[in-house]
Amino acid sequence: MVARIIPVDPFDLVIFGGTGDLARRKILPGLYRRLADGQMPAEARVIGAARSESDDDGFRALVREALDEFLPAEQRDEETIAQFLSQISYVQVDATGENGWDDLRAHMREGVIRAFYFSVAPSLFGPIAERLNARGIADETSRIVAEKPFGKDLESARELNRNLAAHFDESQIYRIDHYLGKETVQNLMAVRFGNMLFEPLWNNKYIDHIQITVAETVGVGGRGEYYDRSGAMRDMVQNHMLQLLCLIAMEPPSRFEPDSVRDEKLKVIRALDSVDPREIVRGQYSAADGQPSYRQDVGDPASKTECFVAMRVGISNWRWNGTPFYIRTGKRLKARASEIAVVFKAAPHNIFEEDHGLHSNVLSIRLQPNEGMELGVTIKEPGPGGMRLLDVPLDMSFAEALGPDAAEAPDAYERLIMDVIRGNQTLFMRGDEVEAAWAWTDPLIGGWEGRGDTPMPYDQGSAGPDDALMLMHRDGRRWREIRA
Ligand code: BG6
Repeated sequence: MVARIIPVDPFDLVIFGGTGDLARRKILPGLYRRLADGQMPAEARVIGAARSESDDDGFRALVREALDEFLPAEQRDEETIAQFLSQISYVQVDATGENGWDDLRAHMREGVIRAFYFSVAPSLFGPIAERLNARGIADETSRIVAEKPFGKDLESARELNRNLAAHFDESQIYRIDHYLGKETVQNLMAVRFGNMLFEPLWNNKYIDHIQITVAETVGVGGRGEYYDRSGAMRDMVQNHMLQLLCLIAMEPPSRFEPDSVRDEKLKVIRALDSVDPREIVRGQYSAADGQPSYRQDVGDPASKTECFVAMRVGISNWRWNGTPFYIRTGKRLKARASEIAVVFKAAPHNIFEEDHGLHSNVLSIRLQPNEGMELGVTIKEPGPGGMRLLDVPLDMSFAEALGPDAAEAPDAYERLIMDVIRGNQTLFMRGDEVEAAWAWTDPLIGGWEGRGDTPMPYDQGSAGPDDALMLMHRDGRRWREIRA
């Protein structure tokens, strides 16, 4: 199957923080792939903007290094790299001062889309937005992209929203949550709203519970300072995990359009129950086999920040009342595996004689690795021996079903950047959504900080603290295995 790639219109994309980690790891390699795929046109320009003293050649050398480091060898093609570098330039800009802004204005071309990626600390969003506007670098058709973290609580998120709104209309602001750009996450919407099969069953009458797991094997080494101020709740739950929960739980939007989708997600966030502290488990990984502990990684022997969190969340509305959502995420767990599992209720009565209990179907949506979906169904075990029941997966790994094109689906970032150029905000968070998410998160964080709770230690390579297992056992349920 050959994917149909439609080139986007020519653009000037300015990356503030163009020499930073995110630009090197994700944004620049992603743009290169879009060029190689024929989606980024040869007339597009990428302009690195940062405080460091450099010039076009210096920045091109940095970009070249980033491509070598973060792209697999088979994706690197010298001719395409030369073309990509010829579309790149650099402007030295002082985000909070006056230097460089005139140069940047002189750099921008008329008649092409202008997009500005804020891959910088949130404290710089306001000053940059203000200068783009005051210096006439941005106009009413320009777009700005705000990278996370979008605040650290409700108050700071409100302030950021106010600072951006002072210079740009909401329709120009693209708040990135890269989980929304993941292939399977979008597929979740296709499966829910493009098929008749699931929607009638998609409620508390037929679904027993839902599990959302984002397990990572990496620790926090290298970004300990940021992480220790944040913790898993702010870093993963407030944004990525809540977005996944919203897509599972939301009502069908009337159209697949930005505000229809975002209105429905907002309703879910506003219907979230507060979580009883007994239904929250926080953890920190311990030292093991020469590997530092979380506290050693962040350099604070008394840190009370969690790098693992599991909780049971309820949604107070007609569709979900009584069906819990269990979410968990953590660092240095046994495998890198992200999955949403929709666990259906068991059949109401067992007509078979077997005594191993009733079976329940599970629809599992794997975000990574091996993106795909699997539906567990109960069948008769083949062969003689009477009516023995067996659970088997109806498996749909995208790579298998759709061929190599699916395996090479664009990375979340590159897909989202193309959406910015196309002017499609569907997969970006609206200001009120981010604020509602913080409004739900703040009291939970405030609760454990106020009580001085200390996270539970857990072994590296495990599934997290034992108490997280108990969280489900108490309800007569269990977590699915964390498997790569
Ligand atoms: C980021 C978090 O937003 O998402 C990181 O700040 C986390 O802590 C990362 O590791 C996970 O993203 P992915 O795409 O690797 O699952």
